[in-house]
Amino acid sequence: MAKLTVRDLNVHGKRVFMRVDYNVPLDEKDGVMVITDETRIRETLPTLRLLIEKGARLILAAHMGRPKGKREATMSLRPVAARLSELLGCNVNFADDCIGEKVEALANALPPGGVLLLENVRYYNEEEANDPAFAEKLARLADIYVNDAFGAAHRAHASTEGIARVVAKRGGQCAAGLLMERELKFLGDELDNPARPFVVILGGAKVSDKIKVIDRLLEKADAILIGGAMAYTFKLAQGFKIGQSLVEKDKTDVALAALEKAKRRGVKFLLPTDNVVATPVVTDKLNKKGKPIIDLNNPRTNSDPDISDTEEGVDIGPASAALFGQTIASARTILWNGPMGIFEDKRFAAGTNVVAQAVVDATQKNGAKSIIGGGDSVKALNKAKLGDKVTFMSTGGGASLEFLEGSVLPGVAALSEK
Ligand code: 3PG
Repeated sequence: MAKLTVRDLNVHGKRVFMRVDYNVPLDEKDGVMVITDETRIRETLPTLRLLIEKGARLILAAHMGRPKGKREATMSLRPVAARLSELLGCNVNFADDCIGEKVEALANALPPGGVLLLENVRYYNEEEANDPAFAEKLARLADIYVNDAFGAAHRAHASTEGIARVVAKRGGQCAAGLLMERELKFLGDELDNPARPFVVILGGAKVSDKIKVIDRLLEKADAILIGGAMAYTFKLAQGFKIGQSLVEKDKTDVALAALEKAKRRGVKFLLPTDNVVATPVVTDKLNKKGKPIIDLNNPRTNSDPDISDTEEGVDIGPASAALFGQTIASARTILWNGPMGIFEDKRFAAGTNVVAQAVVDATQKNGAKSIIGGGDSVKALNKAKLGDKVTFMSTGGGASLEFLEGSVLPGVAALSEK
């Protein structure tokens, strides 16, 4: 990577403004917001420790949720400051704003090695608008800018992009953190020149979310395995019946084009040959969003290539899982993004778990490099307690997908060259 990194910096006594992605899931328990997955916080610790050791005065900025310019109490970063303080084993000050004289005074008072976490930058609409005046205000807190927020690097916002331009314009350095560096290495360099066979596993709900990734990976992969609801768009395109399964009927042409490209390029393209199906029944209970809860009753394995009119595909079947497992076992490089079924419900988690175990076995037994492209596949691996048995798990969701599509991420583009 040709970008400057924190390793290249002399930060002693300097105010280092570091953008992190602390957009972690929070749950309210007895009136207190509790972090339910702290991976994104933990993953920034190496960068933080390095900068603390080097005597930086650290000012951390992040967003939480999408408060759309309002001070939503449930989207405060205060609980993160408390947890970060425990993880680092040092005091983490919290500023209840991210710009203004009070915050500047707190930043200026930091001793070398001191840490200050700012309140949610998205409490201001100017953040997402990448407002130049707001970026200038943030930049008043910075001598040096560091971006370790890979998960937010696809956003051209004031704290991910605008501020870097302000700092660079006045001659300051803008560097990647260690997490950012690792993400770019594994999702970028490693996949540009993969050891072969290179096997890609894609799942999740929508073909439309992943079609650009599929198209790009068809140029590089030896095999692509498709699970999750998006498989039903492919199956429909091939003329099979898909019953009540989730589908994008207007994307069958896109699916057919991908199948044709795979054939042309000699890429093995595997779709499920059997499924787990269940009967959806609308109940009179409502979910958090006020929508009726749909029960999935009478789950069963369906070996028929067609799904009946009253049933819905909810997982890949055992024969497909075994076939996917065999292909994964032959891989030297693996990229996995998206679950094979509704893995949150343990009745429909088997396909995802078989794939997870196959990825782990290929890594541990055959020395394959396994790269997990963020989002739900990371959740599934962690749920199966296999997260530490793969080569790399991305902290990005949308950012990973955009990067895998080949897009230039604004938060990366804004960093200084070495
Ligand atoms: C994420 O959770 O993917 C990142 O933090 C980005 O959040 P956003 O999609 O709200 O910009």
